[in-house]
Amino acid sequence: MDNFEIVDFNSLSETAKTLLRAAVDIRKRSYCPYSNFAVGAAILTEEDWKIYTGCNIENSTLSPTICAERAAVPKAVCDGYLKFKMVAVAAHQNDSFTAPCGVCRQTLSEFRGSDGDIDIFLTKPSMDKVLCTKLSQLLPLSFVSYKKDSVINNCK
Ligand code: THU
Repeated sequence: MDNFEIVDFNSLSETAKTLLRAAVDIRKRSYCPYSNFAVGAAILTEEDWKIYTGCNIENSTLSPTICAERAAVPKAVCDGYLKFKMVAVAAHQNDSFTAPCGVCRQTLSEFRGSDGDIDIFLTKPSMDKVLCTKLSQLLPLSFVSYKKDSVINNCK
C-alpha cells in the first residue's frame, strides 16, 4: 500500500490550498546562503484554524541551522497552539518532493491533532502537484512520552 498520493493542486480543499500558498510565500524569506536550498513551511492549528509559517534559517557554523518546519513550530506554540491539523512544506527539487527531515518529524509529532495525526502536504514553488501524506506515515511507531500530560500540568 502506498503511504502517499500525488494529486493536482486544484483538487485540494481551499484550506489546504491556502496553507500551501503560505508555505510557498514564506519560502521567499529563507536565509540559506550556505546551501542555497530555500524551504517554506506552514502549520494549520487545530483550534481556530490559524496559520503559522516558517522558513529555513542557516548559520555559518552550520549546526544552529533551523529547518522551515521547526521555525514555524515555536511561533504557534508561543501563541498557545499545541495541536496541529495540517502542515505544508514547499521547496524545489527537480526529481522529488522535499519531505521533513527526521528531527522535524519528531518535533511535529509532539503536536499531533486530536486524531493522533497531522495531514502533511508537500509541494514545489510551481504548486502544480502536491504530495499528500500523514505524519504517521512519515514517522511510524513514534516515541510518545508517558510524561507529556503531567509535564504540561506542572507548568501551569
Ligand atoms: N531543510 C528544511 O528547512 N526543511 C526540510 O524539511 C529539509 C531541509 C533545510 C535545512 C537547510 O537549511 C537546507 O534545507 C539544506 O539542508
